[in-house]
Amino acid sequence: MTKVIKELNKWKAIRKSDVFLNKTVGLVPTMGALHDAHLALIKKSIQQNDITVVTIFVNPTQFNNQKDFKNYPITIKEDLSKLKKLNVDFLLNPSYEDIYPDNYEYKVVESNLSKILCGKFRPGHFDGVLTVVLKLLNLVKPDRAYFGEKDYQQLKLIEGLVKAFFIDTKIVSLPTVRTKEGLALSSRNLRLSEEQKIKAVEFPKSLASSLSNDKIKSLLRKKGFKVEYIEQIDNRRFGAVYLGNVRFIDNVKI
Ligand code: PAF
Repeated sequence: MTKVIKELNKWKAIRKSDVFLNKTVGLVPTMGALHDAHLALIKKSIQQNDITVVTIFVNPTQFNNQKDFKNYPITIKEDLSKLKKLNVDFLLNPSYEDIYPDNYEYKVVESNLSKILCGKFRPGHFDGVLTVVLKLLNLVKPDRAYFGEKDYQQLKLIEGLVKAFFIDTKIVSLPTVRTKEGLALSSRNLRLSEEQKIKAVEFPKSLASSLSNDKIKSLLRKKGFKVEYIEQIDNRRFGAVYLGNVRFIDNVKI
């Protein structure tokens, strides 16, 4: 039975109760519109912990573009039935007012990794991500928290957050889940037309190719993508592109 909790006061009381006594806890933070990549994280948490808590909170502070926030897909009914099927213990689905009693006057700011790649093009994005993740870690107090490698920069920043603030949670990461054609699963894919979905496959394909970053950029532009960045750091190539008004990010080990 999945227990759905919306109010943080209720949640805090349950978290302190005997239900959690001597139990290991896994946290899977999400913004909903759950797909197979989320489900892989949830299954891993169920495997590794006594209790699994999934959070669904479309976090406004991590959207630097209000239109993108407004257009973010919300599929709470479908999400809940997926969670019930997996027998997830708790769904925490809080309000903005509960999560931000300070109206975002307090925030976590990282000054190095958060300023490059996506951070360069989405000012304030990672402040919002790190702030909400810190709040969720404090609220759920999990032994383990689960994140996908598709958001590799986010993953590395969250690992840094946990280390910097002595948070007693192990960050567990899982590889990017892709369609059989190679497109990384993302909630934003719901906003693609069938034609765009076919075209979108060119993006991960080109990232994994042996072409230079510049060649990849011009190839993708010719195919109708708007390219934000293609960059290599160590042995990983990162990219962000748009098809229409849908933004994709991806990264591959090379
Ligand atoms: O990756 C996401 O879905 C979000 O950035 C997260 C980690 C749930 C924070 O809002």
